[in-house]
Amino acid sequence: MALEAATSAPIHIRPATTADAARISDLVSSLASEFITHEFTDEGRERLLSFMTPAAIEILIETGYRYFVAEAGSELAGVVATRDDKHLYHLFVATKFQRQGLARRLWQVAGAACFASSGATEFTVNASRFAVAAYERLGFVCVGEPKETAGVVSVPMKHSSSSAEGHCETPIARGVSACESA
Ligand SMILES: CC(C)(COP(=O)(O)OP(=O)(O)OC[C@H]1O[C@@H](n2cnc3c(N)ncnc32)[C@H](O)[C@@H]1OP(=O)(O)O)[C@@H](O)C(=O)NCCC(=O)NCCS
Repeated sequence: MALEAATSAPIHIRPATTADAARISDLVSSLASEFITHEFTDEGRERLLSFMTPAAIEILIETGYRYFVAEAGSELAGVVATRDDKHLYHLFVATKFQRQGLARRLWQVAGAACFASSGATEFTVNASRFAVAAYERLGFVCVGEPKETAGVVSVPMKHSSSSAEGHCETPIARGVSACESA
């Protein structure tokens, strides 16, 4: 799977393994700190980041969260993860690769994998407020007001195949957010 990014070499998307856990952790932690956690309480910030450590990501991969990574050469450009073929858990794109269609591509790959696995066509996500507009462009709709759980703020959203062309989600029901904290 490949696409061209305006700022770099072709981007390849592949399934992640536990060997990718540290790089995924670095990417999602730095993006969460830059775009998401500024509106959290200290407790919420610590909580979210505690679910983004290399060890936490490794456990998620080992326990069946389906991760894909997007790479431009050796550089990690983005990551997507789904849980149980029905929840978009992580969707993060490195700053220099944003607004070039990579999140849409990652979402399409993740959704297709869920559909191939179980026929899934409906997804949830606990979106960061920052990402709501992007998720709406991907076909998600808000299904509730922003809420705070243990200091983590998220917006519940849903997607069905009839509402657009992708699939994702985030876990806030478990104290996590699309930016999730599991
Ligand atoms: C949200 C995020 C994943 C989007 O990644 P991206 O690669 O820039 O998204 P894309 O380029 O694929 O854009 C998809 C659509 O969303 C729109 N979009 C993307 N970022 C947007 C923004 N900040 N505001 C409004 N619309 C946005 C794009 O215009 C595009 O719509 P279009 O195809 O109809 O024109 C990325 O900004 C990110 O990682 N943010 C920080 C982490 C985060 O908040 N992740 C979500 C956790 S819940």
